[in-house]
Amino acid sequence: MAILEMRHVSKYFGKVAANVDVNLSVDEGEVHALLGENGAGKSTLMNILYGLYGPTSGHVYLNGEKLNVRTPKDAINKGIGMVHQHFMLIPALTVIENMVLGMESNHAVLDLKKSAAEFAAMAENYDMPIDPWAKVSSLSVGQQQRAEILKALYRKANLLILDEPTAVLTPQEATVLFTAIRRLTQEKFTIILISHKMDEIMEVCDRCTVLRQGKVVATIPVSEITDTGQLAELMVGRQIKLTMDKKPSKPGKSILSLQNISYKDKDMVPKLKHVSFQIQAGEIVGICGIDGNGQSELVRCITGLLHPDEGKVLFKEEDITRVHTSEILRKGISHIPEDRHGMGMLMNMSVNENLILMSFRNPPYSRRNILNWKWIRSHNKKLVETYNVKTPDIDERAGNLSGGNQQKFVVGRELDRKPDLLVAMHPGRGLDIGATKFIQQRLLDERDRGAAVLLVSTELDEIMELSDRIVVMNSGNVAGILNQAEATREQLGLMMAGGK
Ligand SMILES: Nc1ncnc2c1ncn2[C@@H]1O[C@H](COP(=O)(O)OP(=O)(O)OP(=O)(O)O)[C@@H](O)[C@H]1O
Ligand SMILES: [Mg+2]
Repeated sequence: MAILEMRHVSKYFGKVAANVDVNLSVDEGEVHALLGENGAGKSTLMNILYGLYGPTSGHVYLNGEKLNVRTPKDAINKGIGMVHQHFMLIPALTVIENMVLGMESNHAVLDLKKSAAEFAAMAENYDMPIDPWAKVSSLSVGQQQRAEILKALYRKANLLILDEPTAVLTPQEATVLFTAIRRLTQEKFTIILISHKMDEIMEVCDRCTVLRQGKVVATIPVSEITDTGQLAELMVGRQIKLTMDKKPSKPGKSILSLQNISYKDKDMVPKLKHVSFQIQAGEIVGICGIDGNGQSELVRCITGLLHPDEGKVLFKEEDITRVHTSEILRKGISHIPEDRHGMGMLMNMSVNENLILMSFRNPPYSRRNILNWKWIRSHNKKLVETYNVKTPDIDERAGNLSGGNQQKFVVGRELDRKPDLLVAMHPGRGLDIGATKFIQQRLLDERDRGAAVLLVSTELDEIMELSDRIVVMNSGNVAGILNQAEATREQLGLMMAGGK
């Protein structure tokens, strides 16, 4: 039986048609996937369901009853919960404080201890144990997401929307999430899942609805999908090339050399322990490891966002260990940051302004402090086209772009600078299949042009496919360095887990 029906739902942002006459029907107890290219309208449709946007036209029915949600609070009262791609928990508070925050209580005094006990029992019951007294800031990404899901369940949601829940998870955390999803559907919870990862959809979903340019093109049972190419074709409307051209690498001189880097965080916990390796021009070195084993700190030490306690960072033989980030980036290093919102872009500025953040001081962007807007605009228009960034024009507020399209222009901006060293952290995060392949090919092109590339990713397949050499990290150590040809999944997995 359909628990949810969206009928003839359209949503326009000015001239942009985000959703056009969408009909979506979701059965009770199913996991229903929502698929589509970046900018196809998935998040918008779910934001309408959750009361964040009103539809331009159309209606939503829940259990056969017409819904009139104007705010997320209305949606929550109707049993709809949503976990956004960017978490909404307050880091400085404990898990239980986050849970009760904003909830109406019929008691005059809030009994946090009692709530915590109830909450912990509920979490245990769903096989998602979590410490209610832990500070959110101390939780891993996977645990924070678990807290978000539990928050929705604690508020009695029976329809749960998950917008790209695995984009920020390690494969191990994703497996845990899927177990939880299966567990919930056994108890008649209904789940709508947005994902760009085809294997996940095949693994955990019952049916999927594909959106293309805001319109529904198909709703099909996952059991009828023969291969992922078929899904990709439905999304894009044509066949897309899923293979890459990788020539043998021709490594040149050393570009980046890390010598005995050690770093302790403010609580004196060692995060990097005597890390040494180097990257030559014309090669891709992939870093693999379970998230949180020093990868972030390593990238920060290279880009000047952190300074190591010990050791040296050499860029083209120059010591940049204590150099300021802005100066490091000016020396010919590009950085695709792990968190595009925190470090990569300014949401309230236009796409055009975001694209010149790193280069506006240099010719031809400016001369004697005078910006050459004419040149800049025509250059940025081309850039947006090349990277297939979906936006009405380059003056659009960057924050209005879909998640994947924000990622595309950050990547485009960094690659456009023709760096000698590219530090790319999860470059494909949130990208659809076509865009992922395009960006991966671009990384190979950069390598063939002669750039040194440091690629950090939790996707083992991506690391194995693109890297020439692979550095495995485990609790702040380099657990080993392998040539691509000799690396196997099993061996990398074992080394990541701390084995030999
Ligand atoms: N607040 C807004 N103002 C203007 N345009 C918007 C707004 N939110 C979304 N859009 C536009 O609506 C379209 C659909 O965006 P949406 O975020 O729903 O895509 P998506 O399918 O979730 O993509 P992704 O996979 O990249 O997350 C895009 O063209 C986007 O630029
Ligand atoms: Mg989205």
